[in-house]
Amino acid sequence: MVTAAGFSQFGHKVVCVEKDERKLEALKAGKLSFFERDLEELIKSNLQCSRLSFSIDLEEAVEGQQAIFVTVGTPPAESGRADLGALHEVTETLSHSIQNGQIIVLKSTVPVGTAQNVREILARNGYRDRSVAVINNPEFLREGTAVYDFFHPQRIVIGGESTEAIEFVKHIYRLGMTHPVPIVVTNNATAEMIKYASNVFLATKIGFTNELAGLCDLVGVNVLEVAHAMGLDPRIGPDFLNPGPGWGGSCLPKDISEFIGMGESRGMPLLISKGVQEANFRQFESIVMRVKRLVGDLKGKQIGVLGLSFKSGTSDMRGSPAIPIIGQMIKDGARVKGYDPAASSEAKMALPEIEIVSEAFKVAENSDCILILTEWPEFQLLDWHGMAERMLNRNLVDSRNLLSPEVAEQHGYRYLSMGQI
Ligand code: UGA
Repeated sequence: MVTAAGFSQFGHKVVCVEKDERKLEALKAGKLSFFERDLEELIKSNLQCSRLSFSIDLEEAVEGQQAIFVTVGTPPAESGRADLGALHEVTETLSHSIQNGQIIVLKSTVPVGTAQNVREILARNGYRDRSVAVINNPEFLREGTAVYDFFHPQRIVIGGESTEAIEFVKHIYRLGMTHPVPIVVTNNATAEMIKYASNVFLATKIGFTNELAGLCDLVGVNVLEVAHAMGLDPRIGPDFLNPGPGWGGSCLPKDISEFIGMGESRGMPLLISKGVQEANFRQFESIVMRVKRLVGDLKGKQIGVLGLSFKSGTSDMRGSPAIPIIGQMIKDGARVKGYDPAASSEAKMALPEIEIVSEAFKVAENSDCILILTEWPEFQLLDWHGMAERMLNRNLVDSRNLLSPEVAEQHGYRYLSMGQI
Protein backbone atom coordinates (compact mmCIF):
# COMPACT_ATOMS: atom_id res chain seq x y z
CA MET A 1 0.00 0.00 0.00
CA VAL A 2 2.88 2.37 0.86
CA THR A 3 4.59 1.62 -2.44
CA ALA A 4 1.39 2.15 -4.42
CA ALA A 5 0.55 5.42 -2.69
CA GLY A 6 4.19 6.54 -2.95
CA PHE A 7 4.42 5.83 -6.68
CA SER A 8 1.20 7.72 -7.28
CA GLN A 9 2.63 10.64 -5.31
CA PHE A 10 5.59 10.56 -7.76
CA GLY A 11 3.03 11.20 -10.50
CA HIS A 12 2.52 7.67 -11.80
CA LYS A 13 -0.95 6.25 -12.39
CA VAL A 14 -1.36 3.29 -10.07
CA VAL A 15 -4.12 0.70 -9.87
CA CYS A 16 -4.10 -1.50 -6.74
CA VAL A 17 -5.71 -4.91 -6.74
CA GLU A 18 -7.31 -6.07 -3.47
CA LYS A 19 -9.20 -9.37 -3.26
CA ASP A 20 -10.88 -8.75 0.09
CA GLU A 21 -14.11 -6.90 -0.70
CA ARG A 22 -14.40 -5.25 2.72
CA LYS A 23 -10.86 -3.92 2.58
CA LEU A 24 -11.40 -2.84 -1.02
CA GLU A 25 -14.48 -0.76 -0.18
CA ALA A 26 -12.66 0.88 2.74
CA LEU A 27 -9.63 1.65 0.56
CA LYS A 28 -11.81 3.23 -2.09
CA ALA A 29 -13.02 5.57 0.66
CA GLY A 30 -9.40 6.25 1.63
CA LYS A 31 -9.59 4.15 4.82
CA LEU A 32 -7.02 1.66 6.08
CA SER A 33 -7.73 -1.36 8.29
CA PHE A 34 -4.43 -0.80 10.16
CA PHE A 35 -2.49 2.16 11.49
CA GLU A 36 0.54 3.44 9.62
CA ARG A 37 1.67 7.01 10.16
CA ASP A 38 0.81 9.42 7.26
CA LEU A 39 -0.41 6.63 4.98
CA GLU A 40 -4.14 7.44 4.99
CA GLU A 41 -3.42 11.07 4.11
CA LEU A 42 -1.17 9.95 1.25
CA ILE A 43 -3.83 7.58 -0.08
CA LYS A 44 -6.61 10.15 0.21
CA SER A 45 -4.76 12.89 -1.62
CA ASN A 46 -3.82 10.58 -4.48
CA LEU A 47 -7.34 9.15 -4.69
CA GLN A 48 -8.65 12.69 -5.00
CA CYS A 49 -6.47 13.49 -7.99
CA SER A 50 -7.24 10.07 -9.52
CA ARG A 51 -3.65 8.94 -9.76
CA LEU A 52 -4.50 6.08 -7.39
CA SER A 53 -7.40 3.70 -7.85
CA PHE A 54 -8.50 0.28 -6.60
CA SER A 55 -9.88 -2.78 -8.30
CA ILE A 56 -10.84 -6.34 -7.38
CA ASP A 57 -10.14 -7.71 -10.84
CA LEU A 58 -6.49 -8.58 -11.40
CA GLU A 59 -6.82 -9.49 -15.08
CA GLU A 60 -8.63 -6.26 -15.89
CA ALA A 61 -6.31 -4.13 -13.75
CA VAL A 62 -3.09 -5.31 -15.41
CA GLU A 63 -4.30 -4.56 -18.91
CA GLY A 64 -2.11 -1.91 -20.50
CA GLN A 65 0.11 -1.45 -17.42
CA GLN A 66 3.82 -1.13 -18.05
CA ALA A 67 4.89 -2.70 -14.75
CA ILE A 68 3.04 -4.99 -12.35
CA PHE A 69 4.34 -4.95 -8.77
CA VAL A 70 3.58 -8.11 -6.83
CA THR A 71 3.39 -7.28 -3.13
CA VAL A 72 1.54 -10.29 -1.72
CA GLY A 73 2.52 -11.70 1.67
CA THR A 74 4.91 -14.61 2.05
CA PRO A 75 4.07 -15.68 5.62
CA PRO A 76 5.80 -18.59 7.29
CA ALA A 77 4.27 -22.00 6.63
CA GLU A 78 4.18 -24.56 9.47
CA SER A 79 7.61 -25.77 8.37
CA GLY A 80 9.00 -22.29 9.00
CA ARG A 81 9.68 -21.82 5.27
CA ALA A 82 8.03 -19.01 3.29
CA ASP A 83 4.54 -19.86 2.05
CA LEU A 84 4.51 -18.86 -1.63
CA GLY A 85 0.87 -19.82 -2.20
CA ALA A 86 -0.35 -16.26 -2.80
CA LEU A 87 2.58 -15.51 -5.11
CA HIS A 88 1.94 -18.63 -7.17
CA GLU A 89 -1.77 -17.82 -7.40
CA VAL A 90 -1.00 -14.33 -8.71
CA THR A 91 1.59 -15.69 -11.14
CA GLU A 92 -0.85 -18.26 -12.52
CA THR A 93 -3.50 -15.56 -13.05
CA LEU A 94 -0.96 -13.18 -14.59
CA SER A 95 0.32 -15.84 -16.94
CA HIS A 96 -3.09 -15.88 -18.63
CA SER A 97 -3.48 -12.12 -18.94
CA ILE A 98 -0.01 -10.61 -19.15
CA GLN A 99 1.10 -9.14 -22.45
CA ASN A 100 4.52 -9.27 -24.08
CA GLY A 101 6.66 -6.37 -22.96
CA GLN A 102 5.01 -5.97 -19.56
CA ILE A 103 7.29 -6.23 -16.54
CA ILE A 104 6.56 -8.26 -13.42
CA VAL A 105 8.29 -6.76 -10.38
CA LEU A 106 8.52 -8.96 -7.29
CA LYS A 107 8.46 -6.69 -4.28
CA SER A 108 7.40 -9.43 -1.87
CA THR A 109 10.21 -10.99 0.16
CA VAL A 110 10.87 -14.22 -1.71
CA PRO A 111 13.41 -17.04 -1.28
CA VAL A 112 16.37 -17.27 -3.62
CA GLY A 113 15.22 -18.85 -6.88
CA THR A 114 11.66 -17.51 -6.82
CA ALA A 115 12.01 -15.15 -9.80
CA GLN A 116 13.36 -18.06 -11.81
CA ASN A 117 10.41 -20.14 -10.65
CA VAL A 118 7.99 -17.40 -11.73
CA ARG A 119 9.63 -17.40 -15.17
CA GLU A 120 9.11 -21.15 -15.34
CA ILE A 121 5.43 -20.84 -14.45
CA LEU A 122 5.03 -18.20 -17.17
CA ALA A 123 6.92 -20.37 -19.66
CA ARG A 124 4.73 -23.38 -18.79
CA ASN A 125 1.72 -21.25 -19.58
CA GLY A 126 3.03 -20.25 -22.97
CA TYR A 127 5.28 -17.23 -22.40
CA ARG A 128 8.80 -17.62 -23.69
CA ASP A 129 11.47 -16.48 -21.29
CA ARG A 130 12.38 -12.92 -22.17
CA SER A 131 9.11 -11.60 -23.56
CA VAL A 132 7.91 -10.87 -20.00
CA ALA A 133 10.69 -9.60 -17.74
CA VAL A 134 10.72 -10.67 -14.09
CA ILE A 135 12.49 -8.24 -11.77
CA ASN A 136 13.14 -8.36 -8.03
CA ASN A 137 12.82 -5.06 -6.19
CA PRO A 138 12.89 -5.93 -2.49
CA GLU A 139 11.37 -3.71 0.13
CA PHE A 140 13.29 -2.09 3.00
CA LEU A 141 10.50 -0.06 4.62
CA ARG A 142 10.07 -0.20 8.38
CA GLU A 143 6.55 -0.34 9.77
CA GLY A 144 5.73 2.81 11.68
CA THR A 145 7.99 4.96 9.48
CA ALA A 146 7.17 3.29 6.17
CA VAL A 147 5.97 6.46 4.41
CA TYR A 148 9.06 8.40 5.47
CA ASP A 149 11.29 5.48 4.44
CA PHE A 150 9.61 5.29 1.04
CA PHE A 151 10.54 8.88 0.24
CA HIS A 152 13.99 8.64 1.86
CA PRO A 153 15.36 5.23 0.86
CA GLN A 154 18.94 4.32 1.70
CA ARG A 155 19.20 2.15 -1.39
CA ILE A 156 17.08 0.72 -4.15
CA VAL A 157 17.88 -2.83 -5.21
CA ILE A 158 16.86 -3.99 -8.66
CA GLY A 159 17.61 -7.54 -9.76
CA GLY A 160 16.91 -8.97 -13.19
CA GLU A 161 18.16 -10.10 -16.58
CA SER A 162 16.57 -7.57 -18.94
CA THR A 163 18.44 -4.27 -19.18
CA GLU A 164 15.39 -2.43 -20.54
CA ALA A 165 13.19 -3.68 -17.71
CA ILE A 166 15.80 -2.69 -15.10
CA GLU A 167 16.05 0.78 -16.67
CA PHE A 168 12.27 1.11 -16.56
CA VAL A 169 12.09 0.24 -12.85
CA LYS A 170 14.91 2.75 -12.20
CA HIS A 171 12.86 5.35 -14.06
CA ILE A 172 9.78 4.66 -11.87
CA TYR A 173 11.81 5.57 -8.79
CA ARG A 174 13.95 8.34 -10.29
CA LEU A 175 10.89 10.34 -11.20
CA GLY A 176 10.15 10.99 -7.54
CA MET A 177 13.50 10.99 -5.79
CA THR A 178 14.48 14.41 -4.58
CA HIS A 179 17.97 13.34 -3.46
CA PRO A 180 20.57 10.95 -4.90
CA VAL A 181 19.91 7.35 -3.85
CA PRO A 182 22.30 4.47 -4.53
CA ILE A 183 20.68 2.05 -6.95
CA VAL A 184 22.10 -1.47 -6.79
CA VAL A 185 21.57 -3.37 -10.02
CA THR A 186 22.17 -7.09 -9.85
CA ASN A 187 20.73 -10.45 -10.86
CA ASN A 188 17.48 -11.84 -9.45
CA ALA A 189 18.95 -14.33 -7.00
CA THR A 190 21.32 -11.74 -5.51
CA ALA A 191 18.49 -9.25 -5.02
CA GLU A 192 16.47 -11.97 -3.29
CA MET A 193 19.40 -12.77 -0.99
CA ILE A 194 20.11 -9.08 -0.19
CA LYS A 195 16.67 -8.80 1.38
CA TYR A 196 17.09 -11.86 3.63
CA ALA A 197 20.68 -11.03 4.53
CA SER A 198 19.67 -7.50 5.56
CA ASN A 199 16.84 -8.60 7.85
CA VAL A 200 18.79 -11.48 9.39
CA PHE A 201 21.72 -9.16 10.02
CA LEU A 202 19.44 -6.63 11.74
CA ALA A 203 18.01 -9.40 13.93
CA THR A 204 21.56 -10.47 14.75
CA LYS A 205 22.54 -6.94 15.73
CA ILE A 206 19.52 -6.53 18.02
CA GLY A 207 19.99 -10.03 19.41
CA PHE A 208 23.60 -9.23 20.25
CA THR A 209 22.53 -6.02 21.98
CA ASN A 210 19.92 -7.89 24.03
CA GLU A 211 22.53 -10.40 25.13
CA LEU A 212 24.95 -7.59 25.94
CA ALA A 213 22.27 -5.86 28.06
CA GLY A 214 21.71 -9.07 30.02
CA LEU A 215 25.43 -9.36 30.73
CA CYS A 216 25.69 -5.66 31.61
CA ASP A 217 22.94 -6.22 34.19
CA LEU A 218 24.96 -9.02 35.76
CA VAL A 219 28.28 -7.18 35.88
CA GLY A 220 26.92 -3.74 36.81
CA VAL A 221 27.71 -1.84 33.61
CA ASN A 222 25.32 0.56 31.84
CA VAL A 223 24.54 -0.87 28.40
CA LEU A 224 23.44 2.51 27.06
CA GLU A 225 26.92 3.91 27.52
CA VAL A 226 28.48 0.81 25.97
CA ALA A 227 26.12 0.88 22.97
CA HIS A 228 26.70 4.60 22.47
CA ALA A 229 30.47 4.15 22.40
CA MET A 230 30.21 1.10 20.13
CA GLY A 231 27.95 2.96 17.71
CA LEU A 232 30.50 5.74 17.23
CA ASP A 233 32.58 3.26 15.25
CA PRO A 234 31.23 3.55 11.69
CA ARG A 235 31.94 -0.15 11.17
CA ILE A 236 29.30 -0.84 13.85
CA GLY A 237 26.97 2.18 13.51
CA PRO A 238 24.57 3.58 16.11
CA ASP A 239 21.26 2.13 14.87
CA PHE A 240 19.56 -1.03 16.10
CA LEU A 241 21.59 -1.09 19.30
CA ASN A 242 18.58 -0.62 21.59
CA PRO A 243 17.96 -3.57 23.88
CA GLY A 244 14.33 -4.66 24.11
CA PRO A 245 12.00 -7.55 24.87
CA GLY A 246 13.18 -9.43 21.77
CA TRP A 247 12.80 -8.60 18.10
CA GLY A 248 9.42 -9.33 16.53
CA GLY A 249 7.08 -8.22 13.78
CA SER A 250 5.85 -9.68 10.56
CA CYS A 251 9.28 -9.67 8.90
CA LEU A 252 12.35 -10.46 11.00
CA PRO A 253 10.97 -13.68 12.57
CA LYS A 254 9.69 -15.11 9.29
CA ASP A 255 12.75 -14.09 7.32
CA ILE A 256 15.27 -15.61 9.72
CA SER A 257 13.19 -18.77 9.72
CA GLU A 258 13.21 -18.99 5.91
CA PHE A 259 16.94 -18.12 5.84
CA ILE A 260 17.71 -20.99 8.22
CA GLY A 261 15.50 -23.25 6.09
CA MET A 262 17.35 -22.22 2.91
CA GLY A 263 20.62 -23.32 4.52
CA GLU A 264 19.20 -26.54 5.94
CA SER A 265 17.63 -27.60 2.66
CA ARG A 266 21.09 -27.36 1.12
CA GLY A 267 22.78 -29.29 3.92
CA MET A 268 24.28 -26.23 5.66
CA PRO A 269 23.13 -25.53 9.21
CA LEU A 270 23.29 -21.76 9.73
CA LEU A 271 24.71 -21.73 13.25
CA ILE A 272 24.78 -17.97 13.81
CA SER A 273 21.23 -17.42 12.59
CA LYS A 274 19.95 -20.37 14.61
CA GLY A 275 21.66 -18.98 17.68
CA VAL A 276 20.09 -15.57 17.07
CA GLN A 277 16.64 -17.15 16.76
CA GLU A 278 17.08 -19.21 19.91
CA ALA A 279 18.48 -16.28 21.88
CA ASN A 280 15.37 -14.32 20.95
CA PHE A 281 13.12 -16.96 22.54
CA ARG A 282 15.32 -16.74 25.63
CA GLN A 283 14.89 -12.97 25.58
CA PHE A 284 11.10 -13.34 25.90
CA GLU A 285 11.67 -15.65 28.88
CA SER A 286 14.13 -13.20 30.42
CA ILE A 287 11.39 -10.54 30.53
CA VAL A 288 9.07 -12.87 32.45
CA MET A 289 12.00 -13.64 34.77
CA ARG A 290 12.46 -9.93 35.45
CA VAL A 291 8.79 -9.64 36.47
CA LYS A 292 9.22 -12.67 38.75
CA ARG A 293 12.32 -11.16 40.32
CA LEU A 294 10.15 -8.26 41.48
CA VAL A 295 6.86 -9.97 42.36
CA GLY A 296 7.90 -13.58 43.08
CA ASP A 297 5.47 -16.34 42.09
CA LEU A 298 3.07 -15.02 39.43
CA LYS A 299 0.08 -17.03 40.67
CA GLY A 300 -2.79 -14.63 41.41
CA LYS A 301 -0.69 -11.54 40.67
CA GLN A 302 -2.07 -8.62 38.67
CA ILE A 303 0.30 -7.43 35.94
CA GLY A 304 -0.31 -4.29 33.87
CA VAL A 305 1.29 -4.23 30.43
CA LEU A 306 1.99 -0.99 28.58
CA GLY A 307 2.39 -1.51 24.84
CA LEU A 308 1.26 -4.58 22.90
CA SER A 309 2.22 -3.95 19.27
CA PHE A 310 5.62 -5.32 18.21
CA LYS A 311 7.06 -1.82 18.17
CA SER A 312 5.83 1.76 18.41
CA GLY A 313 4.22 3.59 15.49
CA THR A 314 2.20 0.59 14.35
CA SER A 315 -0.90 -1.37 15.34
CA ASP A 316 0.67 -4.59 14.09
CA MET A 317 0.53 -7.46 16.56
CA ARG A 318 2.06 -10.02 14.21
CA GLY A 319 5.09 -11.57 15.87
CA SER A 320 4.79 -9.21 18.81
CA PRO A 321 6.94 -10.17 21.82
CA ALA A 322 3.82 -9.31 23.89
CA ILE A 323 2.20 -12.56 22.73
CA PRO A 324 4.76 -15.09 24.10
CA ILE A 325 5.62 -12.93 27.13
CA ILE A 326 2.00 -12.42 28.23
CA GLY A 327 1.20 -16.02 27.28
CA GLN A 328 3.88 -17.25 29.69
CA MET A 329 2.71 -14.96 32.52
CA ILE A 330 -0.88 -16.18 32.10
CA LYS A 331 0.37 -19.78 32.13
CA ASP A 332 2.16 -19.02 35.38
CA GLY A 333 -1.13 -17.86 36.93
CA ALA A 334 -0.97 -14.05 36.49
CA ARG A 335 -3.95 -11.86 35.60
CA VAL A 336 -3.01 -9.33 32.91
CA LYS A 337 -4.41 -5.99 31.83
CA GLY A 338 -2.94 -4.46 28.69
CA TYR A 339 -3.00 -1.04 27.04
CA ASP A 340 -1.77 0.04 23.63
CA PRO A 341 -2.34 3.47 22.03
CA ALA A 342 -2.95 1.96 18.56
CA ALA A 343 -3.33 -1.81 18.71
CA SER A 344 -6.42 -2.33 20.93
CA SER A 345 -8.56 -4.15 18.40
CA GLU A 346 -5.66 -6.22 17.02
CA ALA A 347 -4.65 -7.08 20.59
CA LYS A 348 -8.18 -8.26 21.46
CA MET A 349 -7.84 -10.84 18.67
CA ALA A 350 -4.25 -11.82 19.40
CA LEU A 351 -4.56 -11.92 23.20
CA PRO A 352 -8.17 -12.90 24.00
CA GLU A 353 -7.17 -14.08 27.48
CA ILE A 354 -6.33 -10.59 28.79
CA GLU A 355 -8.34 -7.47 29.54
CA ILE A 356 -7.54 -4.64 27.13
CA VAL A 357 -8.11 -1.26 28.75
CA SER A 358 -8.72 2.07 27.07
CA GLU A 359 -6.32 4.27 29.03
CA ALA A 360 -2.77 3.77 30.27
CA PHE A 361 -3.50 4.54 33.92
CA LYS A 362 -6.06 1.68 34.04
CA VAL A 363 -3.28 -0.94 33.82
CA ALA A 364 -1.93 0.43 37.08
CA GLU A 365 -5.15 -0.13 39.12
CA ASN A 366 -4.36 -2.65 41.89
CA SER A 367 -1.47 -4.13 39.95
CA ASP A 368 1.57 -5.83 41.44
CA CYS A 369 3.81 -4.81 38.57
CA ILE A 370 3.79 -2.71 35.40
CA LEU A 371 5.64 -4.09 32.41
CA ILE A 372 6.54 -1.77 29.52
CA LEU A 373 6.80 -3.79 26.30
CA THR A 374 6.50 -1.24 23.47
CA GLU A 375 8.48 1.99 23.23
CA TRP A 376 5.53 4.37 22.62
CA PRO A 377 6.98 7.83 23.38
CA GLU A 378 3.83 8.82 25.29
CA PHE A 379 4.68 6.28 27.98
CA GLN A 380 7.65 8.46 28.88
CA LEU A 381 5.27 11.34 29.49
CA LEU A 382 2.86 9.41 31.74
CA ASP A 383 2.18 10.67 35.24
CA TRP A 384 4.37 7.98 36.81
CA HIS A 385 3.63 9.29 40.28
CA GLY A 386 -0.13 8.92 39.71
CA MET A 387 0.44 5.46 38.22
CA ALA A 388 2.38 4.40 41.32
CA GLU A 389 -0.41 5.61 43.60
CA ARG A 390 -2.93 3.36 41.87
CA MET A 391 -0.79 0.24 42.23
CA LEU A 392 -0.92 -2.40 44.91
CA ASN A 393 2.86 -2.82 44.75
CA ARG A 394 5.16 -0.36 43.02
CA ASN A 395 7.11 -2.67 40.71
CA LEU A 396 8.15 -1.65 37.21
CA VAL A 397 9.87 -3.68 34.51
CA ASP A 398 10.96 -1.45 31.64
CA SER A 399 11.95 -3.66 28.71
CA ARG A 400 12.57 -0.61 26.47
CA ASN A 401 14.59 1.58 28.84
CA LEU A 402 11.99 4.34 28.49
CA LEU A 403 12.61 5.54 32.04
CA SER A 404 15.84 5.74 33.98
CA PRO A 405 16.56 4.12 37.35
CA GLU A 406 16.69 7.64 38.89
CA VAL A 407 13.23 8.66 37.63
CA ALA A 408 11.72 5.31 38.65
CA GLU A 409 13.25 5.59 42.10
CA GLN A 410 11.93 9.16 42.54
CA HIS A 411 8.40 7.78 42.18
CA GLY A 412 9.12 4.95 44.59
CA TYR A 413 9.32 2.07 42.13
CA ARG A 414 11.36 -1.08 42.44
CA TYR A 415 12.68 -0.95 38.90
CA LEU A 416 14.30 -3.38 36.48
CA SER A 417 15.39 -2.26 33.01
CA MET A 418 17.52 -3.71 30.26
CA GLY A 419 21.10 -3.21 31.32
CA GLN A 420 20.74 0.27 32.83
CA ILE A 421 22.39 0.79 36.20
C1 UGA B 1 12.12 -4.73 9.22
C2 UGA B 1 13.35 -4.04 8.61
O1 UGA B 1 13.92 -3.14 9.55
C3 UGA B 1 12.98 -3.29 7.34
O2 UGA B 1 14.16 -2.75 6.73
C4 UGA B 1 12.30 -4.27 6.36
O3 UGA B 1 11.86 -3.60 5.19
C5 UGA B 1 11.08 -4.88 7.03
O4 UGA B 1 11.50 -5.56 8.24
C6 UGA B 1 10.48 -5.87 6.07
O5 UGA B 1 11.11 -6.89 5.80
O6 UGA B 1 9.44 -5.57 5.48
P1 UGA B 1 10.06 -3.89 10.69
O7 UGA B 1 9.56 -5.29 10.69
O8 UGA B 1 9.10 -2.79 10.45
O9 UGA B 1 11.21 -3.69 9.61
O10 UGA B 1 10.70 -3.67 12.12
P2 UGA B 1 12.12 -3.15 12.69
O11 UGA B 1 12.12 -1.69 12.82
O12 UGA B 1 13.23 -3.76 11.95
O13 UGA B 1 12.06 -3.79 14.14
C7 UGA B 1 12.02 -5.21 14.30
C8 UGA B 1 11.98 -5.58 15.74
O14 UGA B 1 13.21 -5.28 16.38
C9 UGA B 1 10.91 -4.86 16.55
O15 UGA B 1 10.32 -5.78 17.44
C10 UGA B 1 11.68 -3.79 17.29
O16 UGA B 1 11.09 -3.39 18.48
C11 UGA B 1 12.99 -4.50 17.54
N1 UGA B 1 14.15 -3.59 17.74
C12 UGA B 1 14.58 -2.80 16.72
C13 UGA B 1 14.83 -3.59 18.96
O17 UGA B 1 14.46 -4.33 19.89
N2 UGA B 1 15.92 -2.78 19.10
C14 UGA B 1 16.37 -1.98 18.10
O18 UGA B 1 17.39 -1.26 18.30
C15 UGA B 1 15.67 -1.98 16.87
